[in-house]
Amino acid sequence: MIANFTYNTPTTLYFGKDCIKDLPKVMGEYGKNVLLTYGGGSIKKTGLYDKVKGLLKDFKIIELSGIEPNPKYDPSVIDGARLCKENNIDVILSVGGGSVLDCSKAISVCAKYDGEGWDLISGKVQAKAAVPVVDIITLAATGSEYDMGCVISNTAINDKRGYLDPLLYPAASFLDPEYTYTVDKWQTACGTADAINHVLEQFFATPHSTFNDGIMISALRSLMKNVKIALKKPDDYAARSELMYVCSWGCNGILANGSGYSGWPMHSIEHALSAYFDITHGAGLAVITPRWMKEILSEKTVERFVKLGTDLFGFDNDLSDMEMAQKVIDAFYSFFEETGIPMHLSTLGVKAEAIDEMADHILNNDSTNEPWMFAPLDKNALVRILNESM
Ligand code: NZQ
Ligand code: ZN
Repeated sequence: MIANFTYNTPTTLYFGKDCIKDLPKVMGEYGKNVLLTYGGGSIKKTGLYDKVKGLLKDFKIIELSGIEPNPKYDPSVIDGARLCKENNIDVILSVGGGSVLDCSKAISVCAKYDGEGWDLISGKVQAKAAVPVVDIITLAATGSEYDMGCVISNTAINDKRGYLDPLLYPAASFLDPEYTYTVDKWQTACGTADAINHVLEQFFATPHSTFNDGIMISALRSLMKNVKIALKKPDDYAARSELMYVCSWGCNGILANGSGYSGWPMHSIEHALSAYFDITHGAGLAVITPRWMKEILSEKTVERFVKLGTDLFGFDNDLSDMEMAQKVIDAFYSFFEETGIPMHLSTLGVKAEAIDEMADHILNNDSTNEPWMFAPLDKNALVRILNESM
């Protein structure tokens, strides 16, 4: 069944080889004063920085560099908002992965607000305006280039917040798969694990429909096939282009229009892990996924596992539902392991002593135990998932 929904993604996508030739025209629609945001230097190594500067030679460019993975409110968002205000910035150009883009989205609303920006990000105050954001995304993972979310860490209070607002849709996103050739094996695997998890967070929901199941299973099939190709041959255009396109659908709702909302519990758990231990988002999700699956497997949820078993993995229909579910869980575990992700949180630097506190943090910040959820998780369940993941 398709339940009622409202859907709108106002972002214009420019996709494919050399699509950034249109950058000056698109940027010109917003003005000449640009805040160029980027991360730790990958865009300088790849030559993209020089290319962008060349294309925008007629624009006035102020720069904010050094945006870290798991972008930080202090200093990056605070500095970016200040630069926008001081320089009357008309448009922000984000060049990099999801972290740079998320930081730029947060800057875009904080730049139009006179109070403490964290009040917007934490949902205490509703934003009223934003500086437009254009992006060139260089890593296939988050889908931030096509959604209205950003995820920002506040290290002072060990918090990592997902912040959603229609103001955060980028005005335009440029997706050239060739810019992802330099993404290393680790980020390629983690980015794909993130995108796989976005699909799973929406697949494990009720109601669901044949149509949405079909799109999501195709998305999973494409991600699982193409990541293996990209890991072997980083400059395989066909593989990189599929990864890039499928990832961009991850969080903008299109996969789940008319389906129920699961509450995205694996993301709630992972955001606590990143907040406490600054781990790579996709790696944390890969480790949690099979343990979360094991925790929520029940007579109520088993149908979703069976659907994945038959339609995605092509397992034998003669298996019992519970046997099929176990095979699905094992298959995801082995798949992530094959892509090079160590399947234990301890290897990623997470300390078992923090589990109890993290479980409280998740419940307080993300309410994973609501009755409307597909599979509510109370504190004991969260602690079990985290312990099993160690
Ligand atoms: O900082 P630089 O030097 O640019 O290097 C980055 C970074 O070290 C590097 N990189 C990016 N593009 C590259 C490249 N290296 C070589 N060649 C390229 N073309 O990769 C490293 C990781 O980058 P990052 O932006 O952190 O990765 P990703 O895109 O996976 O973003 C992760 C962040 O997004 C959030 C995560 O929580 C995490 O903070 N998420 C955002 C979402 C959203 N806005 O919708 C949803 C997701 O669920 C997720 O939570
Ligand atoms: Zn994610």
